[in-house]
Amino acid sequence: MVRAAEPGDEGAIADTLARAFDRDDETVLVRRLQDGGTAVVSLVAEVGGVVVGHALVSRVEARIDGRRIEVMALAPVCVRPTHRRRGIGTRLVEAAIGRAADAGAEAVIVRGDADFHGRFGFSEGRARVFVTSRSGDALQALEIVPGALSGESGTVDFPRTRTDA
Ligand SMILES: CC(C)(COP(=O)(O)OP(=O)(O)OC[C@H]1O[C@@H](n2cnc3c(N)ncnc32)[C@H](O)[C@@H]1OP(=O)(O)O)[C@@H](O)C(=O)NCCC(=O)NCCS
Repeated sequence: MVRAAEPGDEGAIADTLARAFDRDDETVLVRRLQDGGTAVVSLVAEVGGVVVGHALVSRVEARIDGRRIEVMALAPVCVRPTHRRRGIGTRLVEAAIGRAADAGAEAVIVRGDADFHGRFGFSEGRARVFVTSRSGDALQALEIVPGALSGESGTVDFPRTRTDA
């Protein structure tokens, strides 16, 4: 079951993040996004009443050809290693995209495994309008509003973790 996180889920979310990622950067990132007020929705996936997955959608600053557009980032999305390959990540991403669309996103961006995210329509090609000098996984984007990412040149401020280049 995927649901919105509630007060009291913080510990289970932190534990899920710690188990899902080798580094603690994502825990820091989630806290910073929530404290910074840019988080739109925090989702948890539960199995048997235990939180085993987490996804966070946040508003990011984005412009294309000088025009401000409503872009939301899906970062992070994770599932405990013990519960992977059962469709939980899929349900989290689908719910996150739906919530982002409901909240007015024209596009959603993500970084991470392109094969996994490609299943939902994210592509590096769609994100190409954004000029980024960041290293690591390539930025991928999904248009909610067709044509939202059309243009010559754009900027986007993908949420940074502490050790990002
Ligand atoms: C990526 C992640 C969220 C997927 O969660 P999951 O619950 O295993 O995903 P699903 O079970 O819905 O997977 C659906 C399909 O996606 C594919 N897939 C899943 N994880 C994948 C990965 N790491 N690489 C490539 N394909 C992947 C598989 O084909 C899978 O289908 P299968 O069951 O036929 O094998 C999970 O592996 C994870 O937490 N990884 C560490 C954190 C991370 O890298 N997050 C993404 C960037 S923030």
